[in-house]
Amino acid sequence: MKILITGGLGYIGSHTVIECINSKHTVVIVDNLYNSSIKVLEKLNKFLNKDLKFYKTDMQDIDAFEKVFKENNIDAVIHFAGYKAVGESVEKPLKYYDNNIGITINLLKLMERYNVKKIIFSSSATVYKESKILPLTENMPLGVTNPYGRTKLIIEEILQDIAYVDKNFKAVILRYFNPIGAHPCGLFGEENNGIPNNLMPYIVKVAKGELEYLRVFGNDYNTKDGTGVRDYIHVVDLAKAHIKAIKAFEFSKNINIYNIGTGTGYSVLEIIHNFEKATGIKIPYKIVERRSGDIGENYSNSDKAKKELNFSTKYGILDMCHDAWNFEKGK
Ligand code: NAD
Ligand code: UFG
Repeated sequence: MKILITGGLGYIGSHTVIECINSKHTVVIVDNLYNSSIKVLEKLNKFLNKDLKFYKTDMQDIDAFEKVFKENNIDAVIHFAGYKAVGESVEKPLKYYDNNIGITINLLKLMERYNVKKIIFSSSATVYKESKILPLTENMPLGVTNPYGRTKLIIEEILQDIAYVDKNFKAVILRYFNPIGAHPCGLFGEENNGIPNNLMPYIVKVAKGELEYLRVFGNDYNTKDGTGVRDYIHVVDLAKAHIKAIKAFEFSKNINIYNIGTGTGYSVLEIIHNFEKATGIKIPYKIVERRSGDIGENYSNSDKAKKELNFSTKYGILDMCHDAWNFEKGK
């Protein structure tokens, strides 16, 4: 298939480009480099021995974006592009609604105009309402607490509305849990400008000596050791889920929603411990106040993806820590 990958030079997008090429798909990448760099394209071309088709296009500009559809016979879209910083979305909600929802509407308009009927959308575990009952299954109550999460929920609903009237339209909504790690080759990973917000990007900076210690946000949650528990998934496993989702277009119904996680929750202290074990580097930390807006625990039930997509994960927590560090130290 010829697959348009929006945000294809970003963290998850670049890993998915590799998996698409490995699975003999053709890709067309669109990215405005807001949170990525042209160097990623150069590395992809070298690593894959290809000359990938790339458009440096802001999807907010629908006329420029239309060129991509005009010049390529697109079969399906994997839609990664968007802003993703939860904290910033609280400070600048309009920026998030404008970009995340605006570019998705432009994309869907062009898909309609060019008769492209298949889309995989990057949603997030953040769309679930905080739940005492775990693991989270796809049919559990939804509810969001920040504008970033709301953009994901709104886009899920837009896709449902389109699927309702167009029976040939197929959308696979993937609700990612916490992607971490990097490509085992050491060339691709999560690029970070400035001080990171998320756990693993912060830990690797501490390991590198660029930050003094990790702040553990609270140890009084009702979890195994009091620190926050999440379902971390290796980014390569996550990328492979998209290949399974492409296959599902052949047999699936209109709209399909899948959790993509491992089903196992790790606490912050367990992540520190596993990182130290995987790398031999000590991570100094201090317990500080809870981070506002955080929940104690979440992890997925990913049985639906296992059963219907034949999706399973290969990498464990030590691989995730090892590969995250392997990428960071090579930067
Ligand atoms: P990323 O920021 O690395 O990649 C997103 C890419 O989209 C970037 O390269 C950016 O330059 C591009 N982009 C943004 N706005 C654009 C625009 N107007 N036009 C063209 N390109 C634009 O993020 P990621 O971690 O790879 O996440 C990919 C998707 O998965 C996002 O939609 C994100 O919300 C979602 N997601 C990520 C996580 C996570 O923890 N990383 C978790 C759940 C869901
Ligand atoms: N944490 C720390 N110290 C840090 C950073 C994080 O203790 O410096 C803790 C958090 O309190 C939490 C855990 O580590 O318990 C994971 O935090 P992350 O920021 O890495 O991830 P979140 O689960 O908070 O958020 C992530 C993505 C969101 C997405 C959400 C749900 O960043 O975009 O998962 O999918 F919405």
